[in-house]
Amino acid sequence: MTALASLHSKTVKRTTSAAVSSSPVVLPRRVVLPCPHAGAAAPPASGGLIDTSLDYTKDRTYQRLGMPMPLYEYLQSHTREPHVLARLRHSSKSTYVPAQDEGIAIPPEQGAMLSMLVEMNQPKRIIEVGTFTGYLSAALALAMPAGGKLYTLDPNPKNAEKARPVWTEAGVLDKVEAVVGPAGDSLERMLAKDGEGCVDFAFVDADKKKYDKYYELLLKLLRPGGLLVLDNCLWYGRVADPMAQDEYTLALKDLNDKILTDARVSACIVPVGDGMVVCRRR
Ligand SMILES: C[S@@+](CC[C@H](N)C(=O)[O-])C[C@H]1O[C@@H](n2cnc3c(N)ncnc32)[C@H](O)[C@@H]1O
Repeated sequence: MTALASLHSKTVKRTTSAAVSSSPVVLPRRVVLPCPHAGAAAPPASGGLIDTSLDYTKDRTYQRLGMPMPLYEYLQSHTREPHVLARLRHSSKSTYVPAQDEGIAIPPEQGAMLSMLVEMNQPKRIIEVGTFTGYLSAALALAMPAGGKLYTLDPNPKNAEKARPVWTEAGVLDKVEAVVGPAGDSLERMLAKDGEGCVDFAFVDADKKKYDKYYELLLKLLRPGGLLVLDNCLWYGRVADPMAQDEYTLALKDLNDKILTDARVSACIVPVGDGMVVCRRR
């Protein structure tokens, strides 16, 4: 039984004639978790069942991929998180904002994993697609070497405004540059100006329908050996749900399929947070 199935398995009584005389059996209950992002991404009512008892704005289930809560709490209690980021997470509800808002920050265990990748990769130039509260940009900037620059791309100018005090408090303001505008345009401009191979590390966590575009542009921008990490590749279980046919899920599934056989990269999926696919440019 998959983690997702076990998370949502439920004892139900069969209503078929074969079940009339038998005792209750355990059937996997198909559940599509509430969509964490724009309400528009919610599947049609005729699609998978939505478990309305789960509210992602309050329940951390969506971030632990079927891990039992005590184990998830143990994991978090053994995750290193800079104080400034822990404060941001607890004070601003940065992780749990209403669906219609701009997004959600990654959980601390994912931040720790990405910071470790940055420490190993020693990037001079990082691109982050999707600034939000500045949680991850601060984490990555803290881990990158002195003199490096992290460009964080977001169309909403308020996000950079809100994030600036966080970058200041973390002592990384000099390493971070906010680029306001749709990421596709910003990446194309960067490519035209600085050419291919000018980026060492990139992380994508924004509008899912454009992931393929970001992937292609960032592969051009990345130097050989550079890392490109895309968040939400497991999409709260929807990628494994044949009934989930919304365009966000389909876009992510198509990209997962493409990466699996893309000879331009080495790649693996890391099931932390909502799942991230880590690609190394060959
Ligand atoms: C899930 S949040 C990112 C959270 C961030 N990874 C963190 O953990 O701190 C998604 C962000 O993507 C931004 N976004 C939406 N559309 C975008 C686009 N076309 N280009 C760049 N960013 C976009 C949203 O404004 C939001 O801030």
